[in-house]
Amino acid sequence: MRTEVIAIASKDDEELKRAGAVIRAGGLVAFPTETVYGLGGNALDADASRRIYAAKGRPSDNPLIVHISDFSQVYMLADEVPETAKRLADAFWPGPLTMILKKAELVPETTTGGLSTVALRMPNHPAALGLIEQAGVPIAAPSANRSGRPSPTTAAHVFEDMAGKIPMILDGGEVEIGVESTIVDLTGETPMVLRPGYISREMLEKVLGIQVELDPAIVVKPVTEPLTTEGTIHPEASNDDSGSFASNVVSEGSGSKQQNGESTLLKPKAPGMRYRHYAPKAPMILVKGPAQAVTAYICKQIEDNKDKKIGVLCSAQTAPVYKDASRVVVAGAQGDIVALAHNLYADLRDFDEGDIDRIYAEDFGIAEDANLKEALENRMMKAAGGHIVTVG
Ligand code: TXA
Ligand code: MG
Repeated sequence: MRTEVIAIASKDDEELKRAGAVIRAGGLVAFPTETVYGLGGNALDADASRRIYAAKGRPSDNPLIVHISDFSQVYMLADEVPETAKRLADAFWPGPLTMILKKAELVPETTTGGLSTVALRMPNHPAALGLIEQAGVPIAAPSANRSGRPSPTTAAHVFEDMAGKIPMILDGGEVEIGVESTIVDLTGETPMVLRPGYISREMLEKVLGIQVELDPAIVVKPVTEPLTTEGTIHPEASNDDSGSFASNVVSEGSGSKQQNGESTLLKPKAPGMRYRHYAPKAPMILVKGPAQAVTAYICKQIEDNKDKKIGVLCSAQTAPVYKDASRVVVAGAQGDIVALAHNLYADLRDFDEGDIDRIYAEDFGIAEDANLKEALENRMMKAAGGHIVTVG
């Protein structure tokens, strides 16, 4: 299949009509949103959803988010629309918030991975909103990466993963935010965040006037890797899912395997949070501690592992220190959490290019009150498979 890449300039772009027709006919179109690129199909068509799972290589028990362009569509897709949903929509839609509600009959279970709930989101991007309007149907869309790869933040990333598998990619340039939407479950007594994102729990609490919980099962537990006295990572460390290195987050598609030992009883409510996501090919180790100790530790690793290709994910300020590393990727200025989130997935893809053996990521000193803190820590921990070294 030839994959067309089409630049979209505005919500009224004529090309969106053609893209909408592809969706209506049961085909797939990748499109930009403000968070990451999505891989869209008609949410009301079970066959279109099956095509999405196949193109992504994703297990079909991992449900898709249904994207809408107008609040009235919520009444068609959800069985019950609680007051909390209306308030949150008023405050944050269109925007990076996904709400879990009881699903209406109309939504096929293939789209919701067999669940009786549905995930709804109104994205804040002209190409996405224009596409949904032109399609005339709600659009089911997971992130447009192959399963297990970092989510795409440019049309080029989508092309890397999806060329030949889908007919059309809409190019809206780089996305704005760079990490996926916040998912909040509104079907229980207390709203619960199933995946942290740009909209923090505090922001939700302010609007709702009640406490919002975080699904305890999604907290990635640090792995205590056997460290030698020199402070190096266990030499057998590998990124394979069966080995010890990435053992606390299972690989997408490995079915019944549970998360790390202690949390076997805790099952994330968002099925996708069970899987080993956002991971670069090489194992990544997060190095936490005071800035000087972090740079000293990473430099020592580069020095002690001359036979290996070491990659470093660091700040603009510290980058010059790592001149002996095989690959240095600058994530942004120190403490600039917005830049860090925006660049993270592109950075992780960057490491996949150079045959890197191991990646050390600096701890960027994220401010306690930054709204992206919970989201970024979650994604960094997942990319690192829970591997943290604390120094200093
Ligand atoms: O920002 C985003 O949300 C992007 C853009 C494209 O909108 N989409 C996205 O979709 O990240 P995806 O499929 O990569 O992640 C959706 C997550 C998965 O973890 C899935 O398990 C969860 O949402 N999910 C979907 N429906 C659910 C439901 N009914 N109950 C619980 N979790 C659900
Ligand atoms: Mg995804």
